[in-house]
Amino acid sequence: MNGRTTLILGLLLVSLVLAGCEAPPPHIVQNGYRGLSMQQNYNPRRLQETINANVVPETIADAAPGGPLAKDVYNNVQVLGDLTVNEFNRTMVALTTWVAPKEGCTYCHEGVNWESDGVYTKLASRRMLEMTRATNAEWTDHIADTGVTCYTCHRGNPVPPITWTTDPGPKTASGFRSTGQNAVAPDAAYTSLPFDPFTPFLGADPAEIQVVGHTPLPEGNRQSIKQTEWTYALMMHMSKSLGVNCTFCHNSRSFMSWDQSTPKRTTAWYAIRHVRDMNNSYVTPLTDILPDSRKGPLGDVFKINCATCHHGVYKPLFGAPMAKDYPALMGQSASAEDQDDAAATEDESVLAEDDGLGGDEVVAEEAAGDEEVAQADMESVPAPIRYQPLSEDSADDEIIDAL
Ligand code: HEC
Ligand code: HEC
Ligand code: HEC
Ligand code: HEC
Repeated sequence: MNGRTTLILGLLLVSLVLAGCEAPPPHIVQNGYRGLSMQQNYNPRRLQETINANVVPETIADAAPGGPLAKDVYNNVQVLGDLTVNEFNRTMVALTTWVAPKEGCTYCHEGVNWESDGVYTKLASRRMLEMTRATNAEWTDHIADTGVTCYTCHRGNPVPPITWTTDPGPKTASGFRSTGQNAVAPDAAYTSLPFDPFTPFLGADPAEIQVVGHTPLPEGNRQSIKQTEWTYALMMHMSKSLGVNCTFCHNSRSFMSWDQSTPKRTTAWYAIRHVRDMNNSYVTPLTDILPDSRKGPLGDVFKINCATCHHGVYKPLFGAPMAKDYPALMGQSASAEDQDDAAATEDESVLAEDDGLGGDEVVAEEAAGDEEVAQADMESVPAPIRYQPLSEDSADDEIIDAL
């Protein structure tokens, strides 16, 4: 090979390598003190793709004010009775646009026999109305005044494009159950971390996420490497769902310390409790009425994780405050008070443990007790059998993988 050919080949190689690079250079947004590298990197092209995939639908035209109430006119209204008939009907149009635009009113109704509860989707929607109301009224520590509507999750589909069910994991030749290492885990950003961070953390009976010891020497912290991997898998999911780096919430110099974390981490702490509450109080109780086609390989219903609402964006739909336009979605829920209590109790416990690097003994003892519970929860994750994700969930790949 003469020098010239080598030069041309070399140049070709360089241009190939460069073509593989992401151009133009990323936008960098600093979100911590200067010098801490607490920054978010955004690739403008991918950001544009995310913007295109998260368009806010038009507001349904306002209803004329006044007139009789729905509970005085209709026969079987259990949640939305205090709306005027006009606003009630507007809400039905909104529900149709957000959840069943192709299917229409009859996706939830038996023909024009509006009062009948004969279709399971109507029963599911009633529960969903309560869940959305509870979210908007009680979980403002997470969703602020932005609130959520059915569209935040459903995006024009009867089943939200991104959900989870307990994943039995890849089959092994030996038949022994694996805990997920050495296999690609799409839900943990394609790492080889545990493939199902949701069952232990976002379902019933959630395990403790915090794993770092609070003392310089090992004293009573029973969290294993295995549990730590689970925590990291969940963190990967959270980062990917919000389209952010770890430093959106943490200062990587101490992932544990709340003093050094950003306020977003506190929001995320509430978000985790909120998602658990939605799954356990509203979605899982639908198990008996939902058909098998709405269940995973182990028979549990499709449930909510961070990506169900966020779709790769730090605030769903870039923070568009849709809910305020729909009084039907802003009411109190029946179980709102119980949730308040639950959130308050957990609140106190996190504040008690929020002691930075030090830690007094009473707190440490309490924490050790919790850890034993956590360990037991981790071991109870079901054994794997092969599972192909549903192909109709392809929107997940389209949106999230684009990031
Ligand atoms: C996504 C599900 C869903 C869709 C789609 C839907 N509805 Fe409803 N509809 C409900 C639910 C749930 C209730 C009961 C609300 C309650 O209990 O407060 C209801 C109740 C009603 C009622 C009250 C009937 C009675 O006498 O109790 C009417 C009327 C109605 N819907 C009309 C419509 C019309 C018209 C459309 C299409 C534009 C429509 N609905 C689309 C879920 C839906
Ligand atoms: C936080 C996310 C979220 C919000 C908000 C939400 N849903 Fe859902 N919805 C779900 C999930 C998850 C399921 C899947 C349960 C299953 O099918 O296993 C579901 C299922 C349903 C179903 C059953 C569909 C089917 O074909 O089986 C209907 C109908 C429905 N939702 C209506 C609504 C309505 C109406 C609203 C607004 C009042 C709403 N949802 C708000 C997450 C949400
Ligand atoms: C959206 C905010 C957010 C992002 C992004 C995030 N985390 Fe977290 N992280 C949290 C919260 C909240 C907790 C505490 C959860 C709890 O106690 O329920 C936590 C806990 C942890 C812990 C356990 C700390 C302890 O006290 O033992 C580790 C380790 C961790 N995160 C690592 C990471 C890594 C690595 C990434 C990036 C892949 C990441 N996190 C991304 C919010 C976040
Ligand atoms: C029911 C829909 C929904 C789900 C599910 C959801 N979020 Fe959110 N989240 C929101 C909304 C709406 C906002 C916007 C609040 C605002 O405007 O400040 C938000 C905001 C946030 C923020 C603040 C972002 C910022 O820039 O201030 C964090 C952090 C966050 N969510 C974390 C999470 C995590 C972690 C999960 C999963 C455990 C999760 N969320 C699941 C609806 C949701």
